[in-house]
Amino acid sequence: MDLQGKTFIVTGGGSGLGAGAARVFAEAGAHVAIFDVNESAGRQVAEEINGHFVRTDVTDSDDVKNAVAAVATAAGSLHGVIHCAGVGSAAKVLGKNGPHPLDQFARVIQVNVIGTFNVICWVAAAVRDTEPNADGERGVIVTTASVAAFEGQIGQAAYAASKGGVVSMTLPVARELAPYGIRVISVAPGIFDTPMLGQLPAEARSSLGAQVPFPPRLGQPREYGMLARHIVENPMLNGEVIRLDGAIRMAPR
Ligand SMILES: NC(=O)c1ccc[n+]([C@@H]2O[C@H](COP(=O)([O-])OP(=O)(O)OC[C@H]3O[C@@H](n4cnc5c(N)ncnc54)[C@H](O)[C@@H]3O)[C@@H](O)[C@H]2O)c1
Repeated sequence: MDLQGKTFIVTGGGSGLGAGAARVFAEAGAHVAIFDVNESAGRQVAEEINGHFVRTDVTDSDDVKNAVAAVATAAGSLHGVIHCAGVGSAAKVLGKNGPHPLDQFARVIQVNVIGTFNVICWVAAAVRDTEPNADGERGVIVTTASVAAFEGQIGQAAYAASKGGVVSMTLPVARELAPYGIRVISVAPGIFDTPMLGQLPAEARSSLGAQVPFPPRLGQPREYGMLARHIVENPMLNGEVIRLDGAIRMAPR
């Protein structure tokens, strides 16, 4: 699907990978609507790319339903989503202060798994009404997993479980939405230079980058956006999880 003139939602578009995808999609001629809980950051990126911002919490069914409907109505039709809203988490199963806090585990699942599914459901409902192109294609849903789904590190039980959920729903959702001409693909990024990683000291970030076989550096949000763009443009990609990681395989710690 050509991006020119199409309408895409980018969740988590106020920061990091989402902001990178929003910029790449806008440059390719797409109209971009940013959904984020961070109002100032989301508005700033939306203004920069001449797009729209809707304050939306991806874990809230009514919020996402109303925001998706508003975008689809204003644009006339919706062609998909690049779903980047997500949260990190670090805690050991047996930590210094006792077992892993269950509310912390639940929160990561709530945002990363339930939030992803919520966005998929409402976007699919809106894209179903889009006029198909000559190939019968109506739209594309791109979700964001992580290499932690495959090589979760010590302290990542909750985060890895959440990204495993994103990986596992990719094929069944793609199978279900195939009759509507909607493709579903997940990207599993390695280590990217975003505010999520920015909490680490500069030394730790460059040491992480040096662990990447090639190129030996952190990924740039724009490179995530480039893959998301290719996924939308290549009609044969479907039901797959694509690693974007410079060949890194994470060690236990
Ligand atoms: N940065 C990395 O190295 C990396 C690696 C693998 C996977 N990922 C995944 O990529 C995604 C984006 O990460 P990032 O590094 O860009 O993080 P980030 O913190 O820079 O951006 C995440 C954005 O999501 C928004 N958000 C969080 N919870 C939300 C909610 N409930 N509703 C709406 N918006 C919400 C935040 O406000 C923020 O703008 C996440 O799912 C993350 O797990 C990141």
